[in-house]
Amino acid sequence: MAYKLLFVCLGNICRSPSAENIMRHLIEEEDLADQIICDSAGTSSYHVGSAPDRRMQAAARKKGIKLLGQSRQFSRADFQDFDLILAMDNDNYRNILSLDRKGEYGDKVKMMCDYAENFRDTEVPDPYYGGDSGFDYVIDLLLDACDGLLTEVKKEL
Ligand code: 4NP
Repeated sequence: MAYKLLFVCLGNICRSPSAENIMRHLIEEEDLADQIICDSAGTSSYHVGSAPDRRMQAAARKKGIKLLGQSRQFSRADFQDFDLILAMDNDNYRNILSLDRKGEYGDKVKMMCDYAENFRDTEVPDPYYGGDSGFDYVIDLLLDACDGLLTEVKKEL
């Protein structure tokens, strides 16, 4: 059985689709695509069905990453479907856990920044209302955190 990762932000059009597609890129580089599966979701329904934000796509493209996917909302079923759920910020973390009524799945939910090795951020900043540099920053931070995450996930395979 493949190990399943779910990346979660608010809208599922900026940060979590970036994390998903960066991680898949790293996984494919290491020939692990049949062993690790990635998906992403948003805690809100604001952008359900939408493609990743064009500004986020442009920032990812500069690093050779194409952002694929359509926004969907996080649901309770995801707690069972995934092995590890990565929250981009503290609000995401809280909103995910608020759906875990019986407190069964807390061990599966982690902060994405816990895996960063070169950045000291504790949250992936929301770039939505800011300028282009915020999108570039998100990509750089996620490249670092995905690298650290892959090192940890490989220990679980
Ligand atoms: P994301 O960014 O959570 O990284 O996808 C946002 C997308 C949309 C909104 C906020 C953040 N919004 O308020 O619509």
